[in-house]
Amino acid sequence: MAKYLVTGVAGFIGRSIAAALLARGETVRGIDSFITGKRSNLIGLEAMEFIEGDLADPAACAKACAGVEIVFHEAALASVPRSVADPVGTNVNCVDATLNLLVAARDAGVRRIVYAGSSSAYGDTPTLPKDESMLPNPISPYAVAKLAGEHYMRVFALVYGLETVVLRYFNVFGPHQDPTSHYSGVLAIFCRRMLAGEQPAIYGDGEQSRDFTYIDNVVQANLLAAAAPAEKVSGQMMNLATGVRITLNQTFEILCELTGYKGKPAYAESRAGDIKDSLADISMARNLLGYEPIVDFREGLRRTVEWYGTQSAEA
Ligand code: UD1
Repeated sequence: MAKYLVTGVAGFIGRSIAAALLARGETVRGIDSFITGKRSNLIGLEAMEFIEGDLADPAACAKACAGVEIVFHEAALASVPRSVADPVGTNVNCVDATLNLLVAARDAGVRRIVYAGSSSAYGDTPTLPKDESMLPNPISPYAVAKLAGEHYMRVFALVYGLETVVLRYFNVFGPHQDPTSHYSGVLAIFCRRMLAGEQPAIYGDGEQSRDFTYIDNVVQANLLAAAAPAEKVSGQMMNLATGVRITLNQTFEILCELTGYKGKPAYAESRAGDIKDSLADISMARNLLGYEPIVDFREGLRRTVEWYGTQSAEA
């Protein structure tokens, strides 16, 4: 019987958490519907019990939660523009799915759920860095959906005594992130294109900034959130980032060095639902979890480029 459940395990964050748990010798179950997850992300996770299922289906949630102690809830349709194109689909796969999972977890006697929140909850307010006391101001259907999940987490801790911890992720990147969709994260797209010698597109003037967070930092924080004392973390929401922001133009320059790309970016129209700047205050995660970023942006990008390089070499 698995102790841990990872939802969205065929996505890049879910598979990275599952791999870290397996490396520690833990028993792990994973679930994925393959709406955006990739079967190739399950390579290396053979020791895990896998369920193909959709959290929008309550029966799949019940099956996934049976006998589990701790859940990492990473499943989502993780894209702002996708939610602009299909707000109902985002709601079903983020809000309905999260509520179904919470109900199933409560009924199965799960002890704790660690939830992947999103920095998009802060919206486009000018104050930087963003800290957790700020009022949320979502400006895309995706941000609304991820924020609704946060509220459900807090309320299930309050009303049903389920231990819940929300980590508000800031632009996570790293190996295994899907670079093939136009809904993919910008760094995955840039790495793939620039390694192939293809011109990347920057939407807007490239002066928008993000607190890009390397995957190893996210995995570390999740493991800390699973182990932290309930009286300290249950019902809490905290930022998960590196506390450093970088513009897309700067990112492009670093990627030119790392990939050997010699061209210029193509500047295109800004994207609907986009925010200008994003930067986290990470003192709450430091205080409550003992979290400290272990891999900085540049090193993370170097490792990421290296990984995409091996992928294209194999393709
Ligand atoms: C948002 C959320 C993040 C969430 C993610 C899910 C914020 C601050 N962040 O990220 O928490 O996990 O959605 O997808 O709201 N861009 C280009 N060229 C491209 C692709 C993107 O210039 O080819 C630009 C976008 O217009 C945007 C920036 O790069 O300005 C980052 O885009 P993306 O990687 O999609 O992430 P966010 O939308 O910032």
